[in-house]
Amino acid sequence: MGPGLLRLRRCIRDDIKIGTPMTNASPPLHIVGLSGSLRAGSFNAQLLRAAARLAPAGVQIEVETIRGVPLYDGDVEAAEGIPAKVAELKDKIADADALFLVTPEYNNSIPGVFKNAIDWLTRPASDIGRVFGGKPVAFIGASPGGFGTILSQEAWLPVLRTLGTQPWFGGRLMVSRAHKVFDEAGAILDPAIEEALTSYVAGFSAFVAEVKAGRA
Ligand code: FNR
Repeated sequence: MGPGLLRLRRCIRDDIKIGTPMTNASPPLHIVGLSGSLRAGSFNAQLLRAAARLAPAGVQIEVETIRGVPLYDGDVEAAEGIPAKVAELKDKIADADALFLVTPEYNNSIPGVFKNAIDWLTRPASDIGRVFGGKPVAFIGASPGGFGTILSQEAWLPVLRTLGTQPWFGGRLMVSRAHKVFDEAGAILDPAIEEALTSYVAGFSAFVAEVKAGRA
């Protein structure tokens, strides 16, 4: 194993910083989760579902889908307005305390279907503030390769900055060799990865709680 791979594996295990722990007195948190893959057996969708299961008490990660979001077409927008699925997702994100993106990586960047969905969610531009402004956002990803979506996670940064979100940088999670991570029921086979995911979700939840309380 080369030093780069070793570093990434250590990243899965060690590079997690946990913020203020949730307490019983914390108000419930509602986080909308999106996987950027339409594939039925998607590793990223499995990772999102696992994150939802592992969320701390008082935190609900609602697993949403980009399925049904059409290809962006400015002519369709001008003639017909915002598609119903897009309007519904926009309202869900606007109402949520935070957004959680679980991103695949295609050709060292964001998959087109995921970027397309987010692009639709930014229409009309006058609504970006309502949907994304100041919204805490976390992003993780899974790939069968050795680098676990590091480049697609990087590629999300300018998008999230443009939308005025508050990305959480207190932890990182890049799940490599994703085809070996889940069993047939979607359970995580490696306890170290499950622990890293649990810590990541706990850390992000604490950040969301701080933002909600006006402390971050
Ligand atoms: C890929 N894949 C991939 N993986 C990766 O780690 N880096 C990459 O640059 C790419 N590029 C790429 C391009 C295209 C067009 C496809 C279809 C795939 C492999 C990708 O990680 C793999 O298909 C995952 O299984 C996709 O995520 P889901 O669908 O399992 O969530």
